Amino acid sequence: MRTHRTHWLIAATLITVALAHAATAAAQATQATQAAPAPPTPRRPDVIFVPTPDDVVAAMLEVTKVTKDDIVYDLGCGDGRIVIAAARDRGARGVGIDIDPQRIAEATANAAKAGVGRRVTFKETDLFTTDISEATVVMLYLLPSLNLKLLPKLMAELKPGTRIASHAFDMGDEWPAQQTLEVNGRYVYYWTVPATR
Ligand SMILES: C[S@@+](CC[C@H](N)C(=O)[O-])C[C@H]1O[C@@H](n2cnc3c(N)ncnc32)[C@H](O)[C@@H]1O
Repeated sequence: MRTHRTHWLIAATLITVALAHAATAAAQATQATQAAPAPPTPRRPDVIFVPTPDDVVAAMLEVTKVTKDDIVYDLGCGDGRIVIAAARDRGARGVGIDIDPQRIAEATANAAKAGVGRRVTFKETDLFTTDISEATVVMLYLLPSLNLKLLPKLMAELKPGTRIASHAFDMGDEWPAQQTLEVNGRYVYYWTVPATR
């Protein structure tokens, strides 16, 4: 009889201890969840990477008359080819912006290979939220809708006289191009930012 009661006591104690441990573990799990919120989901690119061919890159540098005094921004720089060419062929400084970390890694490696790593910078960020006010030249190869979405930012941040070239896509009637070039079947559109907007 006594042995029977002892067994019951031991069982009850074990159950109580197990319940207490479970409660502590649950509280700790809740605390851990609260202390370390899940990282934000990275924003996806608005357009996929498609490189501008070298002859079109050369035409974009030519139409914008890039020199060593320029700071060339490529908004959505991909593998960095436009700012790398601006630094290598024209002695300019360049800033490439891309939201895709893989592109930024490629661009950084390509700049080092081309020997212009000190003249160009690549930033992994959203082109719609980064400050572009220091640019003297802006290069684009996005989409018609993205050009139009970007237009208020270009007008708000860029200095008068800043030159802009866009591969393939213009700004429609919103901002007619000042010059249009054809390069082996592809188009390059050119604008300069006006003093009054
Ligand atoms: C068509 S590719 C042009 C690449 C390069 N400019 C060229 O002409 O060779 C467009 C690039 O924009 C990048 N991109 C798309 N949405 C973006 C965003 N919101 N912010 C920054 N980069 C973006 C993509 O990752 C891609 O590399």
